[in-house]
Amino acid sequence: MPTTLTINGTDHAVDLPPDVPLLWVLRDEIGMTGTKFGCGVAACGACTVHIDGQAVRSCQVALGDVWGAVTTIEGLGTPDAMHALQQAWVIHQVAQCGYCQSGQIMQAASLLAETPDPTDDDIDAAMQGNLCRCGTYPRIRAAIHDAARALKEA
Ligand code: FES
Ligand code: FES
Repeated sequence: MPTTLTINGTDHAVDLPPDVPLLWVLRDEIGMTGTKFGCGVAACGACTVHIDGQAVRSCQVALGDVWGAVTTIEGLGTPDAMHALQQAWVIHQVAQCGYCQSGQIMQAASLLAETPDPTDDDIDAAMQGNLCRCGTYPRIRAAIHDAARALKEA
């Protein structure tokens, strides 16, 4: 029997075994390739999405264990109304190769939802599991501070 997943506000019937990782469902079944496969063993953060607002590594969550609504980078904002983090990412030109960046933004969105005015230490603690082989960490931190300011002023 298919599992129904709510992804970015839309229900999807998924007819796959319950042990298939959510990352595979998103990319190969639903066709949402914004979420990236990096390591497959919870070591890089490239596959980060939200389940009920909580940042999770989608390579480590089995389809049968998804406990709530899924949000991916495709659902965080829209081209007409980008999330404050996406706007700050553009302003700071954060991305280099870009591979890690959807995971970085999803992790940062979960941080700002819990900690609207994060310190550098808060950012470093929340983001430490999201690796960037291009070393964009200083721009990530600056963009998170800018987005936090923008959300406060909104
Ligand atoms: S692909 Fe999931 S943490 Fe690296
Ligand atoms: S921008 Fe290249 S891995 Fe992060």
